[in-house]
Amino acid sequence: MDIDKTETILITCGRGIVPYLSKEVGELGYKVESSHNTGIEISASLRDTMKLNLALRTAYHVLYLLKKFSCNNPDELYKEIASFPWEDVVAPSEYLSVISRTDTPAINNSVFASQKMKDAIVDRISEKCGSRPSSGPGKDNVVINFYWKDDKCWVYLNTSGKKLSDRGYRKIPHKAPLQETLAAALLRAARFDGSQSLVNPMCGSGTLAIEAALIALKRAPGLLRNNFGLQHMIGFDPLAWIALRKEMNARSSKKLPFRIIASDIDKKAIQAAKKNAQTAGVERMIEFYVCDFKDTPMPEEKGIVILNPEYGLRLGSAEELEKTYKSIGDFFKNKCSGFTGYIFTGNMALAKKVGLRTSRRLIFFNAKIECRLLEYEIYAGSKEKNGNAPGALEL
Ligand SMILES: C[S@@+](CC[C@H](N)C(=O)[O-])C[C@H]1O[C@@H](n2cnc3c(N)ncnc32)[C@H](O)[C@@H]1O
Repeated sequence: MDIDKTETILITCGRGIVPYLSKEVGELGYKVESSHNTGIEISASLRDTMKLNLALRTAYHVLYLLKKFSCNNPDELYKEIASFPWEDVVAPSEYLSVISRTDTPAINNSVFASQKMKDAIVDRISEKCGSRPSSGPGKDNVVINFYWKDDKCWVYLNTSGKKLSDRGYRKIPHKAPLQETLAAALLRAARFDGSQSLVNPMCGSGTLAIEAALIALKRAPGLLRNNFGLQHMIGFDPLAWIALRKEMNARSSKKLPFRIIASDIDKKAIQAAKKNAQTAGVERMIEFYVCDFKDTPMPEEKGIVILNPEYGLRLGSAEELEKTYKSIGDFFKNKCSGFTGYIFTGNMALAKKVGLRTSRRLIFFNAKIECRLLEYEIYAGSKEKNGNAPGALEL
């Protein structure tokens, strides 16, 4: 394949993440041409997908458009797919998987669409090369994404393979862990860039603290992974890939200028978080404590304090949680003056128990649950002194 040919690239993400993904992509020097609920489009080359896959923190997949066409039934689909030069994309020695999403009266089953796609691809390669790739559900080799909406079809080479949220460091997930890409988006929403300290009580398996350390060190999350879909396509440039990984690695810092503190009441959570941080190569950057969130040591330098308490839908009982949320408000007032506080929760009734005024409320989705990232500006002194600023506290 011509890896320098510019095409449409669809970068997918979770619901609510598009604004943060757009900023990240913009910072990497690309112009966002259109955006959807769960993704954005840019124009770029397969060579660019190397950088995008390594650098992006909030994206799920980087998809390179191979073909777009109109189609009204499965036979037309087979013909259109079989007319594409797949022998230039997938070697017969590879393993292939197809992911389909269909919303069309032409077909009532996306599994059938994947089957038809796969048959057309392997038949074409077999005809041109004399042998064919094996295929199945695994996402470790060549992955093709297929969308069929009404009579329009899009076929993409999935240059990521497995989701980019699967960084590879979370060996021990503990209870209700946040997805890594969501944690990165929350930190971006909290304007964390490593130039301030970060405190993460109730850290669970440590996702927020680990993502914060990676951001603060300017360490590209993709450097933690050794396998991406793009490495399996014909035309992959291994020397350019190694050089880019080296260059990105050299750009990351070795030391943090500010402290990152993570704590949890559960010893097992801290054991899991430490192990995960070790796998991510940031265990020496994070101070871990086993303690109630109220006893978390606070650094001198002000910054961000962010908590993701249980919210009753999956874990914890609502009555006990009411007390916990009220105590978080007290903790902010008593110990976090000068910090910006954040609570990420899916239960707004519980959030009211915090008893403080929010300065921002941002919508996110944790799996299918609509959640909020609530921001509290925590000032010392009276409301009057702080000019009635939103979230100002009377201490
Ligand atoms: C929803 S989980 C956090 C998940 C985390 N964001 C992650 O990605 O793994 C909530 C955590 O709060 C902890 N926790 C509950 N009550 C606590 C308390 N009073 N003090 C400190 N931690 C507490 C639990 O042990 C649990 O690990």
